[in-house]
Amino acid sequence: MVHIQHTSPPIQAQAENDDQDKWSSKKYVKNASFVPVLGAPVVQLLDPQPHEHILDLGAGDGILTLDLEKRCKSVVAVDASADMIRAAQEVGCQDARVVDGHDLVDHELANGQFDAVFSNAALHWMKRDPIRVIQGVSKCLKPNGRFVAECGGFMNCAEVRGALHAALRKRGHNPEDYDPWFFPGPKTYRKMLEDNGFQVESMDLIPRLTELSTDIAGWVDTFGFAFLAPIEDEEERKRIVREVQETLSFSCDDGAWYIMYVRLRFKAIKA
Ligand SMILES: C[S@@+](CC[C@H](N)C(=O)[O-])C[C@H]1O[C@@H](n2cnc3c(N)ncnc32)[C@H](O)[C@@H]1O
Repeated sequence: MVHIQHTSPPIQAQAENDDQDKWSSKKYVKNASFVPVLGAPVVQLLDPQPHEHILDLGAGDGILTLDLEKRCKSVVAVDASADMIRAAQEVGCQDARVVDGHDLVDHELANGQFDAVFSNAALHWMKRDPIRVIQGVSKCLKPNGRFVAECGGFMNCAEVRGALHAALRKRGHNPEDYDPWFFPGPKTYRKMLEDNGFQVESMDLIPRLTELSTDIAGWVDTFGFAFLAPIEDEEERKRIVREVQETLSFSCDDGAWYIMYVRLRFKAIKA
């Protein structure tokens, strides 16, 4: 029996994490519109069916959620960022809620009612306890339900990550304390899934040279904010961003900036 709420909770009720929310839906649209566009192969791997109920984990501003809504019976979009969920509601997502992936395991959504959990470009941000996230996904799924996702994989964005590490280390900070990403290799993530009751159907590590819709500075501003947390002085933050861009000047070709993304794409079944 499926109990899917088809209206989102009021936006005001979700704004309580605004102070800690470093995600900006405006910056995301301006600097990262390629992310949902490049999620098309993951939707293809999901192969959503008209009768299905799907959970979109780390749904962001809801662009892929809207696409899923057209193909299946219902979609619940969850994301830890109130600003992103507000944007998802504004574009018309039927049910978009502020939920941290780590909290799914104890959440009312975790009652085995979903045919599939989908996630694009979000799992690697759930670094605090990735196993807890997998356990939450499992509790949301029906038996034989599928978990289909793509996230950053081993060596993802290594050049910009390395430049950010070097900039922090130079200033006396340990970058490991601020690095927000978990980029697992396929063997590591397969084992985590299998240890938590999933059978892995496919698991691919896919290098993808990605043209940005901004430069490195815009990318760092949109995605690298966690590295700048220990730097209080605004001018020093700007210097770091400039420094990272200069270090990576080789990644500009004919006016366009590139980052070497490496994606981990998988399909796993709740055994
Ligand atoms: C790069 S965006 C991807 C958004 C969307 N899936 C897409 O393809 O456009 C990553 C998203 O993960 C969300 N996120 C980060 N940490 C999270 C967490 N712990 N729980 C749920 N969502 C999280 C962010 O708020 C952000 O919206």
